Amino acid sequence: MKLIVGNLKMYIEGSNLKEYTNKIKKVENENVVVCPTSIHIPFFIKNKYKVGIQNISTEEIGAFTGEVSASQAKKLGVDYVIIGHSERRQKLNETDLDINKKIKNALASKIKVILCIGETLEEHQLLKTESVLKREIQKDLNQIDENVIIAYEPIWAIGTGVIPTNKEIERTVEYIKLLVHEKTKKTPKVLYGGSVNEKNINELEKIPNIDGYLIGGASSKIDEFLKIIEIVK
Ligand code: PGA
Repeated sequence: MKLIVGNLKMYIEGSNLKEYTNKIKKVENENVVVCPTSIHIPFFIKNKYKVGIQNISTEEIGAFTGEVSASQAKKLGVDYVIIGHSERRQKLNETDLDINKKIKNALASKIKVILCIGETLEEHQLLKTESVLKREIQKDLNQIDENVIIAYEPIWAIGTGVIPTNKEIERTVEYIKLLVHEKTKKTPKVLYGGSVNEKNINELEKIPNIDGYLIGGASSKIDEFLKIIEIVK
């Protein structure tokens, strides 16, 4: 079955957590992963839910106020980590070198990595998508030959309601699988992310080569998220 990852970003207030966890825990959960704000992770783990963390530190231990290390996350029961999300690359100045370090830390702690890559609108319009993806894959996966999950998230599709055509997604996913295979000798699972919602999921489901979805805004609305999960199942 496809992997469905909910990226709750910083959307859910503490007061809505109980309703969210009560509803989500009723879902067959093997292939559904929820990535809440770090301080909410224990609530989801208590509900026996598969949980991902939205970020980890480039460092493993030491004086790094506000950071969470991969091994701390693993010991808490975290199974997945989102690394290199465009919001972190763009708003928090995360570099490919930081991303590469984070991936190595996560893999050393046996946390499954979801690496986000994707082009800006300008790069898309200038037909630079492939070169951007190539650069990100080469730098982010430098000296890495373990299996990672890739989330293809065109930055211009995140939170905008505008998404690429099915053909474009299919072609890009194929390209990513080839590139990552060249680099690591393993064919990765590739998720699509960017404005996935209950209205477009049926159409996206027609794409033959995607292995799941990374869902932001729509995953924070629990009833919509449950509908998407039902359709993908
Ligand atoms: P979106 O976000 O579904 O709200 O577009 C996706 C993401 O940022 O991972």
